[in-house]
Amino acid sequence: MKLGFIGLGKMGQALSLRAIQSGYTVYGYNRTKSKVDSIRDRVEILPSISDVVEKSDVILVSVTDDEADEDVILGNHGISDYIRPNKMIIDFSTISPIMSKYINEKLKRKNAYRLEVPLIGGPDKALRGELIALIGGDRSKYEEMADLIKTFATRTIYAGNIGDALSLKLAFNLLVAGYAELLAEGLTLVEKMKVDPRLFIYLINASGYKTEFSEIKGQKMLVNNYEPTFYLKHMKKDLGLISKVVDKYSVYLPVHSTLWSTYTAATEYGLAEEDFSAILEYLLKINKLKE
Ligand SMILES: NC(=O)c1ccc[n+]([C@@H]2O[C@H](COP(=O)([O-])OP(=O)(O)OC[C@H]3O[C@@H](n4cnc5c(N)ncnc54)[C@H](OP(=O)(O)O)[C@@H]3O)[C@@H](O)[C@H]2O)c1
Repeated sequence: MKLGFIGLGKMGQALSLRAIQSGYTVYGYNRTKSKVDSIRDRVEILPSISDVVEKSDVILVSVTDDEADEDVILGNHGISDYIRPNKMIIDFSTISPIMSKYINEKLKRKNAYRLEVPLIGGPDKALRGELIALIGGDRSKYEEMADLIKTFATRTIYAGNIGDALSLKLAFNLLVAGYAELLAEGLTLVEKMKVDPRLFIYLINASGYKTEFSEIKGQKMLVNNYEPTFYLKHMKKDLGLISKVVDKYSVYLPVHSTLWSTYTAATEYGLAEEDFSAILEYLLKINKLKE
């Protein structure tokens, strides 16, 4: 099976390398050509979306947000301009369930299929095929694609219709944003009280509240290592996607509003390109615990 990846950012690159490692033929396209130099020796980079769609059996998309996804699928010279009937798009992008439904409505005219497959886990797990894949869309089409999706994921969760997997993903990222924020607030509090912050991380990891985040990112936060695996600007983006759902469906989520304000402020503070755990850096600086 020939795979065509559209969007070769952190996740797209890791997913395409994983696919190659698993024996697939892979073609790729990225809007900014200079960003894919490090994988040109392994992935055949093509100049346009149309080239990738022409050559591939299945199109895999991993782009930033609603606007990017609409652009690469429905936009001028986007996937839908070239896709042939009965072809499949697997869309890994984290977008709003509202946009996902809109895109599928539009794709009906082309008789093409699209599954939304938001992913849990970052580029490292993608490279090892250890993600969790959430699937929304036609169940029989998912079953046809299950082996391919399992190349990237040790667990797959079929959520239901289009929109359902993305709703789950946004609820999950709300939890992750909150966990990072609270861990950072705890670290800020103990620093202010002149208690060794390493004790706080040690305490969490000794308790029932230990997570992969507190174990791995917790250690990195202690030494202010915010090398990005998931950009802070993208966590803010996901909180913004939740805002769209909150507005459209009138959901009261008080902590979400606070998280949206804090991650927005941290982005504007110059931390957009850092890992989302740099929410700690923002709190330390605002509280004058760091220059
Ligand atoms: N990183 C993670 O840990 C992680 C985990 C799970 C899910 N995700 C989700 O996966 C998606 C990709 O994330 P990432 O971390 O790979 O982000 P990234 O490194 O910033 O990559 C974003 C990709 O989207 C492309 N893009 C953005 N706007 C575009 C447009 N208008 N037209 C064409 N291409 C466009 C970018 O192209 P350029 O290079 O030209 O800018 C790039 O290829 C996001 O939805 C993110 O929320 C990420």
